[in-house]
Order: sequence, then C-alpha cells, then structure tokens
Amino acid sequence: MVLKARPRATLVALDLFGESFEQHFGPSQSPQQTLLANLEAAGVERRATIVTADMRKLPFEPSTFDAIVSAYVFEHLNREGIQTSLAEGARVVKPGGDFLLMLIAKEPWLQYTFGPMLVHQGFHGAEWWTPRLQEAGFQVLEEGTRPVTLYLLARRAQAPVATFH
Ligand SMILES: C[S@@+](CC[C@H](N)C(=O)[O-])C[C@H]1O[C@@H](n2cnc3c(N)ncnc32)[C@H](O)[C@@H]1O
Repeated sequence: MVLKARPRATLVALDLFGESFEQHFGPSQSPQQTLLANLEAAGVERRATIVTADMRKLPFEPSTFDAIVSAYVFEHLNREGIQTSLAEGARVVKPGGDFLLMLIAKEPWLQYTFGPMLVHQGFHGAEWWTPRLQEAGFQVLEEGTRPVTLYLLARRAQAPVATFH
C-alpha cells in the first residue's frame, strides 16, 4: 500500500519470516516468496527489497530511512523487546523522519471473533504507547483509530544544532 500510494518511493520489507509469519499467512515453501508474489501482483516489486531480520536488532546503519511503517508486529514482543525495537526504529530513521505505528486496537470483542488475536500480547491504548515512543526519541504528532486498528504517528526529534561560541 505504501508503494502504491508513493509511486517514487522505495521500501525495505522486514520480517522474521519464521513460524509466526506462517501462523498468520499459512504454510509456504518460502514466506519471502509469498511476499514477493504479493508485491508482483501489485506491480511494485522493483521498488521493494525483502529483508529477513529481527526488529530488535535492525541490520541498517543509523539514519538510513525517511520513514518507518510498522503494521501489527509490536504485539508479538515483550516489554523489553518493545523498548529495544522502538530504540532501533529511532536509530535507523533520519532525524525529522516519521514513524507510523499500527497496532491491533484494544477492542475486547476482537479476541473472541478473530482466532489469531490469541497469539498476541496484551493490548495497550495510546496512553501506554505515547510515553514509550517519547522515551525512544519520538514526538507523537497524531493518534487515532480505524476498524481493528490503533495508530500513532510519531516523528523523530531533529538532531540538536551545534552552536559555536
Ligand atoms: C500480524 S503479522 C503482520 C505482518 C505484516 N506486518 C502485515 O501487516 O501484514 C505479525 C508479524 O510479526 C512478525 N514478527 C514477530 N516478531 C518479530 C520480530 N522480532 N522481528 C521481526 N518480525 C517479527 C511475524 O513474523 C509476523 O509476520
């Protein structure tokens, strides 16, 4: 969707592509091939790179990306993993870059109507995520809900400007 909406953007699609991916998207010979097939179906594969890695230890240099989008992944981490991954996000996004954090909304009925919800960690509201984003170096610009989704749009602080006396 990002590549469709931003015709000149390039994108790195990162996931562990392990057991959890298969729980969500079904068994396949290669989960990366499944994603590639989806990118091809959307006609955007030439602007995407698929990376297999752990979001708690991102294999990228500091300030690599203009923006990060995270969709329904942080629910799989414990508190330490959340803290580490937010810090990793702040490290690899450029100063002033954006971070769109999408989470499963804290809607109790969801847990009873949609089986995969059961593998997710406890659900938190925006009031829980906001201080954690701030601690990692982000400023929350906007928060809101969509069906099934809680989102927070945050921006990494600009690097302090050096002053000379
Ligand atoms: C609900 S799926 C969402 C997948 C995709 N972001 C989407 O929106 O369709 C959760 C994904 O989190 C991935 N995941 C869980 N822990 C991870 C970690 N530590 N690092 C990277 N990906 C992880 C799983 O492999 C799984 O594909």
